[in-house]
Amino acid sequence: VTGAKRREAGVAILGAGFMGSMHAAALRQLQVLGDQDAVVPRLVAVADSDPLAAEELAARFEIPMWTTDWRSLIDDPRVDVVTIATPNNVHVDMAVEAARCGKHVYCEKPLGTDLSDARRALDAVTDAGVTTLVAFSYLFNPVQAHVRSVLQQGDLGEVISFRGTFDQDLLVDPSAPFNWRMDRAVAGPGALADLGAHVIAIALHLVGPLAVVSSMMRTLVPSRQVSIGAAVSRAVENEDEAYLLGRFASGATCVIGASRVATGRKVGLSYEIQCTRGSVTFTHERMNEFGLYRHDGPADRGYTRILTGPSHGQYGRLYPIAGVGLGFGDQKVLESAALFDALASGVRPFADFHFATEVTAVVEAAERSAEQAIWMPVEGATAGAGVA
Ligand SMILES: NC(=O)c1ccc[n+]([C@@H]2O[C@H](COP(=O)([O-])OP(=O)(O)OC[C@H]3O[C@@H](n4cnc5c(N)ncnc54)[C@H](O)[C@@H]3O)[C@@H](O)[C@H]2O)c1
Repeated sequence: VTGAKRREAGVAILGAGFMGSMHAAALRQLQVLGDQDAVVPRLVAVADSDPLAAEELAARFEIPMWTTDWRSLIDDPRVDVVTIATPNNVHVDMAVEAARCGKHVYCEKPLGTDLSDARRALDAVTDAGVTTLVAFSYLFNPVQAHVRSVLQQGDLGEVISFRGTFDQDLLVDPSAPFNWRMDRAVAGPGALADLGAHVIAIALHLVGPLAVVSSMMRTLVPSRQVSIGAAVSRAVENEDEAYLLGRFASGATCVIGASRVATGRKVGLSYEIQCTRGSVTFTHERMNEFGLYRHDGPADRGYTRILTGPSHGQYGRLYPIAGVGLGFGDQKVLESAALFDALASGVRPFADFHFATEVTAVVEAAERSAEQAIWMPVEGATAGAGVA
């Protein structure tokens, strides 16, 4: 991090696919949002194993350096922050190398393909003392910060239950071809780690650590053509749908579902939190509103539909009036801002590698439970989930 006043941090983007491009766009917007005391990103390099992808992203965002060899970028003195937007199996190697070179790390979810992988990353960044952020993007919808503060104020009473889903129908068509998300060695688990992890992150953040889980998983389409119309197929190596039943450390109950074969759902990330004196509902498909029910109101009680605005979380950083509506890209801007705010303030950001390791621990416990058809305790459930 260099320069006086409005300081700049050089960023290298690893992975130039969907998320690499979202990171570049969000960081570009963050450059113009920062005030005089801010640390703002400067895009200095991009790496992708596919040279066309790297070159294209570099050209589109006027990034001066691109390469197919990510290792060659990490130790470059112009790079202060590494953002990791590759498939899951390389996240941890990249994070460990970045930490070794003293670089801050902004990593896509999930953190690694299993718990030992996540812990290897956590140990490396902890030893190096670098700042980290993991991209549980839906946490950065201002709705979540507001719901958390409503729950903490206590007037809804105690949380009884959290029930959430992340449903998509991208793979319900059996002719949809194989991709890296179905390759166990590259992706790790399937729907639960890819989609369900976002809901687990929200559940941990809003309700607290999960103590024990039970789970079942299923692969609906056992093999898929390697490309559209190809004669050759590959076995799908992880689950298309996963269901988790759990108990929070507080005693509250939890139900989470994740499916990539959920016909009709696009980004069906939804939840309902039942409390002793009220409840909350949210669905990302209507991401600019949430429902709030207060049980101590007048006789004609009902859910209130609340449109988000500047009084909710970090909304006001983007727009001055309620109801104009945020999109997925806005979440990404607020997510990347969490890292750069932390670089300016020195305060540990949310959600960092500690928190992401807790999410991975829940996914791993669910997998073990599904394999063995038993309840599994969540390893190392800690207070990290409560970090604001
Ligand atoms: N936060 C979110 O909401 C969200 C949404 C989608 C994806 N993701 C995560 O983002 C990551 C990337 O997903 P995506 O949808 O952008 O995938 P993608 O397939 O669109 O892009 C991945 C890119 O990484 C490149 N790549 C693969 N191996 C590499 C290597 N060893 N070194 C350098 N580059 C390599 C590929 O060529 C490709 O360009 C995944 O971890 C995924 O879970 C997060």
